[in-house]
Amino acid sequence: KTGMFTYDPGFTSTASCDSGLTYIDGEEGILLHRGYPIGQLAEQSSFMEVSYLLLNGELPSPEEYEKFNYTISRHTMLHDQLRGFYQGFRRDAHPMAIMCGVVGALSAFYHDSTDIADPAHRTISSHRLIAKMPTIAAMAYKYSIGQPFLYPDNSLSYTGNFLRMTFGVPAEEYEVIPAVEKAMDRIFILHADHEQNASTSTVRLAGSSGANPFACIAAGIACLWGPAHGGANEAALNMLQEIGTPDRIPHYIERAKNKDDPFRLMGFGHRVYKNYDPRATVMQKTVREVFDALKVKDPVFEVALRLEEMALNDDYFVEKKLFPNVDFYSGVILSAIGFPTTMFTALFALARTVGWVAQWNEMISDPGQRIGRPRQLYTGPAQRDYVPLSQR
Ligand code: SDX
Repeated sequence: KTGMFTYDPGFTSTASCDSGLTYIDGEEGILLHRGYPIGQLAEQSSFMEVSYLLLNGELPSPEEYEKFNYTISRHTMLHDQLRGFYQGFRRDAHPMAIMCGVVGALSAFYHDSTDIADPAHRTISSHRLIAKMPTIAAMAYKYSIGQPFLYPDNSLSYTGNFLRMTFGVPAEEYEVIPAVEKAMDRIFILHADHEQNASTSTVRLAGSSGANPFACIAAGIACLWGPAHGGANEAALNMLQEIGTPDRIPHYIERAKNKDDPFRLMGFGHRVYKNYDPRATVMQKTVREVFDALKVKDPVFEVALRLEEMALNDDYFVEKKLFPNVDFYSGVILSAIGFPTTMFTALFALARTVGWVAQWNEMISDPGQRIGRPRQLYTGPAQRDYVPLSQR
C-alpha cells in the first residue's frame, strides 16, 4: 500500500500514472495524503498545512509553516487590470464560467512565471495560483450580487481572508466567526486532492504538453464543473431541496433505480469508493458543528440524513455499493454559511487547486515525463475506397 500505481502500457488503459501524493483504497474507504489519513488531517490540521504537505511531501516545521503562509500571502492580490475581466461577464454568469476565464487569463499577466522548465518559475506560479483562487472566487461572488470587491487582508488566515472578501463589505468591519472559519478550512482540506480524478487527469494531460500552469488549471476547472464531478455538490443540494420532505424520498429513490430515468442520487456513488467516502463522514459531522455554532436548523439536513439511511438499506444501493460521497453533505454546510448553490463548485475548485498544482509539479518535475497520449479501441469501418459524388 505505497500509493504507487503500475503503469498499464496497454492501449485500452485510461491515463494512469505513478504518484506519491494521495492513496485511495476504494473498497476500504481509505484516503491518505502523503500517508496521513484524511480524518486526522481534517480534525487536526489546517488547509495551509495540508497544502504545504501536498506540495513538499512532509508536514511543515513551525518555521516552514510561518514562511509558507507569508509567501502565499504575498500573492493574494490580483493584477488590477484583471478586475476589468469581471465587467465583461453578465451579472448572472455562473461563477465557474468566470473562474475558467479569469484563471486562463492569468498567464497574460504573470508570464514572468510561465517558463515551466525553471523550478523557480514552477514554484512561484504554484504559489500564485493557490494564493489568488480565494480572491478570484470571492470577486466572482461579489460581482454576481453587485457588491464592490474587497481587497485581501493578509492579517487574516487564508480561509478567514476568503470569508471576509466574500461576505464583508467596505462599509463595516467583518468579524470572522471561528467556528465558520474552522468548518470552511476543513471543507477545503476535504477537497484538496483526490488522486487521478477527472479534473486532475485533465490538468496532468494539459500539463504534459508543456502548457503553462495557469492554462492547465483553467482546464481542470472546466472539467470539474460537470455535474458528474465537482458540479455534484450544487446538484446534490438542489436535489435535497426539491425532495423537500422525508415522505417524498421513496419516490426519488425509485427514480434513481429506474434505468429509464436519467435521474441519479446526486452526492451518491463514486468511480473508486465502493464503501463510505471518508470525506463524507467528516462532512456530516461538520454539518452538526456548523448548525450548533450558527444556531441554525435546516430541514434539508434531516432529508439528507433520512435519504442516506433509506438508500443504505435499499438492496439496489447496497448491491451496487453506492454510498454518500464528498458532495452529499457539503452543500448543506455551505448553504448554512451563506453561499448560494452556484458558488459550491467554485469553492471545490478553490480547494482542489492545491491538488492540481501539486500533481502538475510532480509530473513536470519527472525527468522521464512525456506528453500524454491515451489510445483507443477503433470501432469504425474497415478501410474502403472513396466513391465519387456522381456515383453515390
Ligand atoms: C466527485 O473521481 C473522483 O475522485 C471524484 C471526486 C474528487 O474528489 O475528485 O471524488 C469528486 O466527483 C465525486 C462524485 C460526484 N458525483 C456525483 O455525486 C453524481 C452522482 N453520482 C453518479 O453520477 C455516479 O456515481 C458517478 C458518476 C460518481 C460514478 O458513476 P459510475 O462510474 O457509473 O458508478 P458505478 O460504476 O459505481 O455505478 C454502478 C451502478 C451503475 O448502474 P449499472 O450500470 O450497474 O446498472 O450504479 C449506478 C450506475 O448507473 N449508479 C447510480 C448512482 N451512481 C451510480 N444509480 C443511482 N444513483 C447514483 N448516484
